[in-house]
Amino acid sequence: MRFAVLASGAGSNLQALIDRAHGHHGNELVAFATDKPQAPALQRAQAAGIPTKVFPASQYAGREARDIAMANWLGDAHRTELVVLAGYTQLVTPAFLEAFPQRVINVHPALLPAFPGMGVVQKALDHGVKVFGVTVHFVDAGMDTGPIIFQRGVELPEAETAQEVLAHLHPIEHDLLVDAVAQIAQGSVSLDPANPRRVRVSR
Ligand code: GRF
Repeated sequence: MRFAVLASGAGSNLQALIDRAHGHHGNELVAFATDKPQAPALQRAQAAGIPTKVFPASQYAGREARDIAMANWLGDAHRTELVVLAGYTQLVTPAFLEAFPQRVINVHPALLPAFPGMGVVQKALDHGVKVFGVTVHFVDAGMDTGPIIFQRGVELPEAETAQEVLAHLHPIEHDLLVDAVAQIAQGSVSLDPANPRRVRVSR
């Protein structure tokens, strides 16, 4: 399977995919796109020899125009079959999702549907939660609302800082994201026809 990654930040999830998904079981990371020219993730992709392109908001008439250009680059130029959002800080538009139906996934540092959106680890800390976690889900037009593929929680009742929590969450993110790509590539992931919110993974 040919997959692509979109990221805006440090790129530790991208790095896990480069190290543990790219070139494994016939899967290839064929393209990397970002909205942020300064993102360390961009340097990681370049260092791995992955084709990259920056799609800054300022160069397009609007979000949809940017997403159509990005979808064309990923789809037509690189024949991408799955798009992985790995710390991509833009909401993708319906125009983008229509280009890759049921083929965009995201990793989120909370147990959805609790704490969607940005800055969620701090919000969970502020709320006083004892169990943190990670969700990998299909992306739909909402904010972190798509069907859930994998989730894993971790009890951190004494945690005080977001940095401390994220140090526990990142390895979980990397494991779940790499696994999700592998399972989707194998055709093991499907929506339950009786309840399309429910994702079946038949290993
Ligand atoms: C991760 O916490 C991910 O869950 C969230 O953005 C962060 C990206 O981290 N969507 P990195 O850039 O992959 O290190």
